Amino acid sequence: MDLRGRDFLKLLDFTQEEILYLIDLAAELKEKKKKGIPVDTFRGKNVALIFEKTSTRTRCAFEVAAHDLGMGTTYLDPAGSQIGKKESIADTARVLSGMFEGIEYRGFGQDIVEELAKYATVPVWNGLTNEFHPTQMLADLLTIREQFGRLQGIALTYMGDARYNMGNSWMVACAKMGMHFTACTTAKYFPAPELTAQCRAIAEQTGGSITLTEDVQAGTRGADVIYTDVWVSMGEPDEVWAERIRDLHPYQVNRSVMENAREQAIFLHCLPAFHDLKTKIGAEVGERFGITEMEVTDEVFESAQSRVFEEAENRMHTIKAVMAATLAK
Ligand code: CP
Ligand code: NVA
Repeated sequence: MDLRGRDFLKLLDFTQEEILYLIDLAAELKEKKKKGIPVDTFRGKNVALIFEKTSTRTRCAFEVAAHDLGMGTTYLDPAGSQIGKKESIADTARVLSGMFEGIEYRGFGQDIVEELAKYATVPVWNGLTNEFHPTQMLADLLTIREQFGRLQGIALTYMGDARYNMGNSWMVACAKMGMHFTACTTAKYFPAPELTAQCRAIAEQTGGSITLTEDVQAGTRGADVIYTDVWVSMGEPDEVWAERIRDLHPYQVNRSVMENAREQAIFLHCLPAFHDLKTKIGAEVGERFGITEMEVTDEVFESAQSRVFEEAENRMHTIKAVMAATLAK
């Protein structure tokens, strides 16, 4: 398998074999890190990390992974560069390609990261767009495989806002890996029909399946993985909170959802999560709408079935694999 020089923009661009290769490589790099065996064969290389939206996990994962591999990093924050304001994406891509061996981009439309990749002469990695979050998928797939020993045939139910980056990404990931994807939410938040049709065609080849349902009991029964994400994503206006809470509250992950899933089911969430009032936004929204928890109850978040912190750690190992696989030696 040779992925050198490839961009990592969305899982749709990769075959099942290529995705499995990245997960296997991540598992190998994780084991080496745990044993204290250094893999710093990329010494002398540098990567640019562009963040037009904020981040904890993705930024830290790219920085730690790059440093472990022996590389230098430059972080460009949401306010501190010329990108998109004084300089086009095409020009930025060509400038950064002259100084760096790889570029990470987190921002708004998928078209922006695709444009960056078109003009860059080095690999570009998608650190989250409105449409897709592919590095999150690799971490989650690794976490699921660590738990169940396989991906093929695993049933994952995604609750909440299924028409944004996480819901889209999960529908694609399940189709590619032969998993059973269920979007369990109100129909307004189902993934777009074109992407759903595309994923159904892929799933037919891999033995996976795509189900969209509004029925919580039917949608969560027997699931291996229950997944959710925030109801309002970065970049969305504050005005949507009231509507989201009203629409998505019936799809909150709570004890009765977990009890309806398989006994061995796990709970995953890309994080950050609103499971209590201990954040600024959580407290404000809680007070405004008279609620104490949003997409997941604190009980489930803190339960033995929750694997969210193992999942977060796996961001680093999988991002390291993406960089190690795609960078030129
Ligand atoms: N899950 C995730 O992408 O987290 P950050 O926004 O903290 O990077
Ligand atoms: N849907 C969330 C994912 C965060 C990792 C967002 O875009 O804010």
